[in-house]
Amino acid sequence: MGAPGRPTPQRPSGQTPDDGTRPRFDDRMPEDYRHPDANPYVTEHRTFGPELLTADQAWRQRGQWGACFGRDADLHVEIGSGNGFFLAELAQRLPQANVLGIELRYKRTVLCGKKIRHAGVTNARIARYHAAFLDDLFEPGSLAALYVNHPDPWPKERHEKNRLISRWFLEDVARFLRPGAPFRLKSDFEPNVARAAALIDTGPEGEPAPALPLRVTGRSEDVNTLPAPWPDDIETNYQRKFKVRGLPVYAIELVRT
Ligand SMILES: C[S@@+](CC[C@H](N)C(=O)[O-])C[C@H]1O[C@@H](n2cnc3c(N)ncnc32)[C@H](O)[C@@H]1O
Repeated sequence: MGAPGRPTPQRPSGQTPDDGTRPRFDDRMPEDYRHPDANPYVTEHRTFGPELLTADQAWRQRGQWGACFGRDADLHVEIGSGNGFFLAELAQRLPQANVLGIELRYKRTVLCGKKIRHAGVTNARIARYHAAFLDDLFEPGSLAALYVNHPDPWPKERHEKNRLISRWFLEDVARFLRPGAPFRLKSDFEPNVARAAALIDTGPEGEPAPALPLRVTGRSEDVNTLPAPWPDDIETNYQRKFKVRGLPVYAIELVRT
């Protein structure tokens, strides 16, 4: 099997690649699935309101997220926000920060939008986007923190190419975090946490690779029963499911050097 690389953008046929007029992540879903009749959340996510940005709206914020939030502040980003429990809680706990969630699925962006609205916070937004194309959204060194909670595990080896925790993703982490900023990962799938540490200086196939400017600053074998590598851990929806079943949730913190 070849080394897993960054997913390639899928474009409507006839569109010129990188012509600068559309987000590189346009839509990786089949056309049928995107049709409002097949998925009511397609329309709902477009009309939801200021808490929710479509992919096209999100892409236009690059370099000007302060305007989107109505103020300049540290930008904290969570990837794969799911139902939005963590995102809304983080925004409540960090009123001085701007908090942005990135989520692929239409329905989940709407659920996140509702969580934000229900929490009554004005410092949170959810954007529908794909984690493989963060350079559409952010300038290098522009993030104050990055969080990934329970990325889809893809445990089968033949699905390794689908895993988010990869060398290309760690390269993005190093690129978009500003010096001193943390990357915090929690996962029920231990190899994800081990890989986050190993891929700092190895390539996708385990070969030596140039060391990225990231340093492991903490690790936990189970944040449900032991301290997390950071203060005031926020329980996520998936974390709770594993806790109820008595299963561990692993965690690691890397800091941009
Ligand atoms: C297992 S769920 C975890 C949800 C939440 N973080 C939690 O801990 O409860 C993973 C989430 O990541 C989202 N996701 C998967 N791949 C993604 C990608 N490439 N870009 C953005 N979100 C993605 C999924 O749609 C899903 O909502």
